[in-house]
Amino acid sequence: MTTDYRFLKACRNEPVDTTPVWLMRQAGRYMPEYNAVRKNVSFLELCHSPELCTEVTLQPIDILGVDAAILFSDILVPIEPMGMKLDFVPAPVFANPIKSQADVDRLRVIEPEADVPYVIETIKMLRKELVSRNVPLIGFAGSPFTLASYMVEGGGSKNYIKLKSMMWNAPEVYRSLMEKVSETVIRYLKAQIAAGAQAVQLFDSWGGVLAPADYLNYVMPYTMRVIQAIKTPGIPIINFVGNSQGIMPLVAQSGGDVIGVDWRIDIAEARRQVGMNKAVQGNLDPIALFAPIPEIDRKVKEIIVAAGDTGLVFNLGHGIVPETPVDHVKALVDSVHRHGESHRVK
Ligand code: CP3
Repeated sequence: MTTDYRFLKACRNEPVDTTPVWLMRQAGRYMPEYNAVRKNVSFLELCHSPELCTEVTLQPIDILGVDAAILFSDILVPIEPMGMKLDFVPAPVFANPIKSQADVDRLRVIEPEADVPYVIETIKMLRKELVSRNVPLIGFAGSPFTLASYMVEGGGSKNYIKLKSMMWNAPEVYRSLMEKVSETVIRYLKAQIAAGAQAVQLFDSWGGVLAPADYLNYVMPYTMRVIQAIKTPGIPIINFVGNSQGIMPLVAQSGGDVIGVDWRIDIAEARRQVGMNKAVQGNLDPIALFAPIPEIDRKVKEIIVAAGDTGLVFNLGHGIVPETPVDHVKALVDSVHRHGESHRVK
């Protein structure tokens, strides 16, 4: 199995021929090709079909020329078989949010091969398809905290009142929920690696909504446990926490070979706080894709130069939004490859 891809080398902080780039939510509604598949099926039907997931995963590889594929699914997919009634309208909603210990006790820890066979099958199909494209495959899961936020709030949230109330008013309920979700995430990521994922990303999109002391106490132990448990030689782990500018050193301590950073911190400063031994992934503002192409090009160069000689995986600081112009996304990928090549260590 080759480990010579520029994406995997950058994850290991090794010199590369040019900077690798992939984009969070790179398969999605900004692409006409995705919408053509999506118009015939619901989002959950799409997530349950290995053939369709494989098709849409490959779209950004073939159309944009990005350096890694990310399994098409959603962070909430493994939560459904835990016993949560999930719907996308299009934002996710759970009809039976977790309110009490009895609700937590009713949750199952999943058996991935039996409960999400379509995800395992998608990974196997993708590995075959990606051989001729010479691109590695990233698997992923939500972090225990971000998943618990949806399960307790019943969907997305602005202030996380229910989740934070549970943390502080019923810490034993919160902790028993986090234990079950952590165990599900561990089994889920181990199964993805066993099926062929060549790197994995933990999405802690909402981990940055807590004060540093609360992140340390209520989030970090579970993130650390997951990262420790899934460690596999040759499989880099990317730890992405949204809004992490105030907790960078804690995020780095939680583990991961690559630390994902959003755009609210300068990438050079993020690297200083993370430590130069780890790679970083980021950190263009996704809305910068609405700027004129020469401005995008300038921002790309700035990030590549500031990040240092090795250990940058170029990405957006959060998912690409549906309104994004596709030609600007293509220009971004070209810019990264051009500036990455002229900046490379010779
Ligand atoms: O990156 C990829 O291309 C892989 C696919 C992927 C999706 N969601 C597809 C998706 C990944 C890695 C995710 C992760 C995800 N899902 C996160 C973490 C990353 C982040 O953005 O913070 C979160 C918080 C979710 C939960 C989620 N899923 C929300 C809030 C929504 C609705 C709002 C929105 O942005 O659309 C979804 C739906 C979703 N997930 C879509 C896609 C392509 C759109 C569904 C559609 O086609 O209608």
